[in-house]
Amino acid sequence: MDPGHFFASSRVLVVAGKGGVGKTVTAATIAAAASRCGLSVLLVEVAGRSAAAPMFGASAQGYEEAVLVHEAERNGIRQGEIRGKSITPDDALTEWLSSQGFNRLLKRMAKSGILEVVATATPGIKDLLVLGRIKALESEGAADLIVVDAPAAGHALGFLRSPTGVRDAARTGIIHRQAVEVLELISDPERLQLILVTIPEETPINELIETSYAVEDEVGVKLGPVVVNGVLPEIDGLEGSTTRAQTSTHERADLNEAAAFRASRTALQDKQLERLGTELPLPQIQISQVFGTQIGPAEIDVLAGEFIAGIEAL
Ligand SMILES: Nc1ncnc2c1ncn2[C@@H]1O[C@H](COP(=O)(O)OP(=O)(O)OP(=O)(O)O)[C@@H](O)[C@H]1O
Ligand SMILES: [Mg+2]
Repeated sequence: MDPGHFFASSRVLVVAGKGGVGKTVTAATIAAAASRCGLSVLLVEVAGRSAAAPMFGASAQGYEEAVLVHEAERNGIRQGEIRGKSITPDDALTEWLSSQGFNRLLKRMAKSGILEVVATATPGIKDLLVLGRIKALESEGAADLIVVDAPAAGHALGFLRSPTGVRDAARTGIIHRQAVEVLELISDPERLQLILVTIPEETPINELIETSYAVEDEVGVKLGPVVVNGVLPEIDGLEGSTTRAQTSTHERADLNEAAAFRASRTALQDKQLERLGTELPLPQIQISQVFGTQIGPAEIDVLAGEFIAGIEAL
């Protein structure tokens, strides 16, 4: 598939998955890939302070919107700007109240913790507020593409289920309307797609398969390709490297052991990738495990290239 076409197919991509599988890395990778295709991107984080900014070499911003990557030209091709933003339920409530024409007093109440009271009474309201803010950004056309780094683990399902729950709890009124509007966003494949992330290991893959079926059934969201993060690349000549003349017997034993370990890991990984392919009828995009202590702009650049290649291969 043409990558430009892929990125133009939905205005919001929500990246979700089990805790620690690489949601933030994947969201940053997708943002970088879309930017390379010339799109402007807004990377939205909902789990807390920005974790993605350092991946673009920007200093970790607070909750304010900030430019992470400036619009530029690379080999004669325009690259879109990437902005980052964190959304908290409290900010979302304040924004929403003012969009509804509520006055400053009410906004101050929001700041003073009334949200906690309302949230206890209406489960899902916090998630709904955040999704409502994302919907507002989408309607404003805040960027060509909005990439959302969704909350971790089983919480992603609750996050996307929240509008249904709230719609049924609040039968009428502005909260009901908000829930209905968010549901319209979530169930329209041309506006929003869900990208699930996993690593090539048994338990995360099981969880991903379960989540996929659950969200499709219960939420009616369109599932985009699955991203498998942290794939170990094949290393050519791993065997051969152990027979080099200058290595001592001792070193050779170590290298052989490392090679055997590596081979058994890749074999396990390939088995899991194959299983994912047969148990879940969704296209797969693989991005590799990069080495180094931290994910920075160079690493994201490599992963974005792999992501684009993965889309092209679909
Ligand atoms: N492809 C990769 N290559 C190397 N390291 C990676 C890769 N993907 C993720 N990591 C590392 O693994 C850790 C977890 O990644 P990340 O923060 O993206 O996960 P997450 O799913 O967003 O976690 P959380 O659920 O805590 O938000 C980070 O330290 C990150 O640098
Ligand atoms: Mg994260």
